[in-house]
Amino acid sequence: MTLSDIASLQSQALAEISAAKDAAEIENLRIKYIGRNGSLPALMKNLRDVPPAEKPAFGQALNALRNAVTEALNSRKSSLEASSAPAETFDFSLPGNWHASGSIHPVSAIIDEVTRIFAQLGFTVADGPDIETEFNNFDALNTAKHHPSRDARDTFWLGNGLLLRTQTSPVQIRTMLAHKPPVRIINPGRCYRRDTTDATHSANFHQIEGLYVDTVPVSLADLKSTLEHFAREMMGPGVKVRFRPHFFPFTEPSVEADFSCHVCHGKGCSVCKGSGWIEILGAGMVDTRVYKHVGYDKDCYGYAFGMGVERLAMIKYGISDLRLLYANDLRYLREFI
Ligand code: DAH
Repeated sequence: MTLSDIASLQSQALAEISAAKDAAEIENLRIKYIGRNGSLPALMKNLRDVPPAEKPAFGQALNALRNAVTEALNSRKSSLEASSAPAETFDFSLPGNWHASGSIHPVSAIIDEVTRIFAQLGFTVADGPDIETEFNNFDALNTAKHHPSRDARDTFWLGNGLLLRTQTSPVQIRTMLAHKPPVRIINPGRCYRRDTTDATHSANFHQIEGLYVDTVPVSLADLKSTLEHFAREMMGPGVKVRFRPHFFPFTEPSVEADFSCHVCHGKGCSVCKGSGWIEILGAGMVDTRVYKHVGYDKDCYGYAFGMGVERLAMIKYGISDLRLLYANDLRYLREFI
């Protein structure tokens, strides 16, 4: 045994220890080097044969070997434990983080529902801009030159004959100018009127327009059955529809349609203000003067209808004040959907 044997054994032991990958390997190395039958005790036995003058140096070298190996085993063990422990303990039983995903606004819900019902009847969704021409919003819809709705006190005029549309009816004109009959569209959209905001009025509101024009006969009976189907789908199977004569410049004849009150079923309550009926929409057979404006043959047949979305939402969801729809109070809006 030489001192350099001890030194090379030490460096071999330290190299193996630092390469150890788990607790079992570390234990095996402990047994191999400093265990009872390991390398170190074997060298200790050899100490007897070392000349007395060299003994202290050998003794010191063997002690240093034991200390170095013991320390290396301990530090390798604790560094392995530290790296295999999970970085952070996670409690799977804790409730998850809740993120609000939003909900459908009552106005959008009504638009979706009405669109779904008419889509089943073959209506496609048409679109038009909020800024319209006087021609599309009034002239082509056969509105008299001095009709009060054209007044600047009712309509937001933008100059150059442009305005914020007061109704979705101009989409009828856009559709007929762009497509030959048959056309069968509905158009949900935003409208503007110079109204002072109160429980039932808003300067900014929504309508849904419907138009069906064909070259084969389409009658008032078709309009009535379509609207009756819509009423039942929208408000429930027991709902009845009542048609009253009315006037709109772009339909002849014109009607207003009332639905029987879905709350009291016609008996009279606060929702229908005691009458048993709720006014829902305007409709009629398209006036031949409108066909002339869009270049359609005067022998076309068609009907149109239009309804207020906020009004439908208020009736369907029992909302007493239109302003609640736009106050952006989530506590209120979450009540519905
Ligand atoms: N545009 C009308 C309004 O704002 C509603 C309306 C009535 C639309 C009759 C129509 C219709 O298409 O045929 O009061």
